[in-house]
Amino acid sequence: MSELMKEKIVIFSGAGISAESGLRTFRDMNGLWNEYSVEDVASPAGWAANPSLVLRFYNERRKAVLEARPNAAHYAIAKLEERFNVVVVTQNIDDLHERGGSSTIIHVHGEILKARSSLDPALIYPLSTPDIELGDCCGKGSQLRPHVVWFGEQVLHMDEAEQHFATASKILTVGTSLSVYPAAGLVGFAKTSAEKYLVSPDSQEPPPGYRLLQGKATAVVPRVVTCWLEGRKPS
Ligand code: APR
Repeated sequence: MSELMKEKIVIFSGAGISAESGLRTFRDMNGLWNEYSVEDVASPAGWAANPSLVLRFYNERRKAVLEARPNAAHYAIAKLEERFNVVVVTQNIDDLHERGGSSTIIHVHGEILKARSSLDPALIYPLSTPDIELGDCCGKGSQLRPHVVWFGEQVLHMDEAEQHFATASKILTVGTSLSVYPAAGLVGFAKTSAEKYLVSPDSQEPPPGYRLLQGKATAVVPRVVTCWLEGRKPS
């Protein structure tokens, strides 16, 4: 059966799906934004003021990504492709969905394992070294920066992501506080008739029409995947 003939599932993930792989989230207890100022390390103004601080922040996170391994949630999502046309829309900049085996992944906030020209955003380079240093330049001679969307910058692939939400019959939102727009607004593009869930360990208020499946990603996501592969609704 062709991919287009298969029922479409959208997985919408945030930092929480990578938490059990050892990568820090942003707004939990020991979240990154409790230790670093967003303005200093994740904004164009911060980059202009102190590029070496920004490079150091992302070099440290990149090392953590390279040391991390996909977890049971990432692998279960890839398994869904046996029966469904699965599109992963992620706010995460790590490559754990890729290494977990998913084949269609849309990174709306960029990818930490890629560098980008600070002059021409179309110039994107896969990183061959774990670090980007001051003096590492693009083909046009300007300083390389992480290929990551900073606050105040244009989010990537939103039209494509909206279309996938609008045409999916099942949506699983995992590990996101849904506090950063426009990405968080994607959940509102889902069809009323679609089966929609939010996975969170907290009693997080789900978006309208979504049902909360409370628990950690590695416990809940494999269970949902098993139900869907067996043609059942998760309870
Ligand atoms: N399993 C599932 N969910 C978890 C787990 C877990 N093991 N651990 C934490 N969570 C949940 C938290 O309860 C929280 O709701 O993951 C969510 C993480 O929320 P944030 O830290 O706000 O991360 P996220 O929603 O991805 O942030 C969105 O903000 O700073 C920007 O660009 C950054 O992409 C990021 C965006």
